[in-house]
Amino acid sequence: MKALILVGGYGSRLLPLTYSIPKPLVDFANKPILQHQIEALKHVGVTEIVLAINYRPEDMYKFLKDSEDNLGVKLTCSQETEPLGTAGPLALARDKLVDGSGEPFFVLNCDIISEYPFAELIRFHKTHGGEATIMVTKVEEPSKYGVVIMEEATGRVERFVEKPKTFVGDKINAGIYLLNPSVLDRIQLKPTSLEKEVFPQIVAAAKLYAMVLPGFWMDIGQPKDYITGVRLYLDSVRENSPDRLVSGEHVIGNVLVHETASVGEGCLIGPDVVIGPGCVVEDGVRLSRCTLLRGAHVKKHACICNSIVGWHSSVGQWARIENVTVLGEDVRVGDEVYSNGGRVEPHSEVRSNIPNPKVVS
Ligand code: GTP
Repeated sequence: MKALILVGGYGSRLLPLTYSIPKPLVDFANKPILQHQIEALKHVGVTEIVLAINYRPEDMYKFLKDSEDNLGVKLTCSQETEPLGTAGPLALARDKLVDGSGEPFFVLNCDIISEYPFAELIRFHKTHGGEATIMVTKVEEPSKYGVVIMEEATGRVERFVEKPKTFVGDKINAGIYLLNPSVLDRIQLKPTSLEKEVFPQIVAAAKLYAMVLPGFWMDIGQPKDYITGVRLYLDSVRENSPDRLVSGEHVIGNVLVHETASVGEGCLIGPDVVIGPGCVVEDGVRLSRCTLLRGAHVKKHACICNSIVGWHSSVGQWARIENVTVLGEDVRVGDEVYSNGGRVEPHSEVRSNIPNPKVVS
């Protein structure tokens, strides 16, 4: 089987991390988001994956070069010369996706984290005889999203309602699709939206079906959701492979520590913490609901909560970092500095407090 991953968005909501690399290459639980998806696709028999890129192709080609052998799937790029939205890239990659077998192919948004229940999706798709299946997920606040209304018994999609003011349903598009090759006949090679233009056409033909995604789901395209996504992901690791998590006197709840990281004496770590490769956590540090990306250094007695520390950044002694602070790559936070929701651009130094959420350069 084949798959296409939409990796061409600007990822502006995940700044300052996406200054350094495109969103799909940002690490999530110690590997690029894209790698989580590729491994799950391979697991259900996908042998060829097209990455639909538009932005910073050189980073994506480097990932391809470094990863293809290790991941064991054929990875190719389909490069746009102008952003083609979420559907146009499928038309551009048509020749790569269609091989005459008539087999459906996967399409994924690159910023979705879940247990990727692709085997269930294939099974469901085969039962309904429609043209396309979208996975949907239940959310607490459907009014913020595009809601998918479907026939309960069959899953056939009846309509979409964008940001409903009154309750019409609570299932939203999860950004994971299985499409028959005939869907490509509905897409022109121009900037087009799958969600807004192509799916409504298939609904009109009564050939679009939706399946409720089992397990957790999160769009991690913005920092607060990334942090929530880590919590949900670690809950799932606890359930499925608890040996990957650390335990001990200094650990609370779910904590993932890369084998090359070091953690000092008298620290209290957790819950929902990821410590990346080569990170150094000195003595007496308190970490909760946070991710330290590769090479981060947290000095003695610092406290980091609900935040993301970028690659090779350092946090000074007794500093306090909280409330969805995001440090970009190579940021140095001084001793005793307080950050309440700062978004700090890469390669900078923070010497004074950030009392309220703001972008700092
Ligand atoms: P923000 O800038 O933070 O909104 O992120 P984004 O640009 O990635 O947008 P969004 O999350 O809405 O995009 C949904 C999916 O479509 C993501 O997987 C994007 O990478 C992808 N995407 C969005 N626009 C394009 C495009 O023009 N070309 C390609 N190839 N992918 C796109």
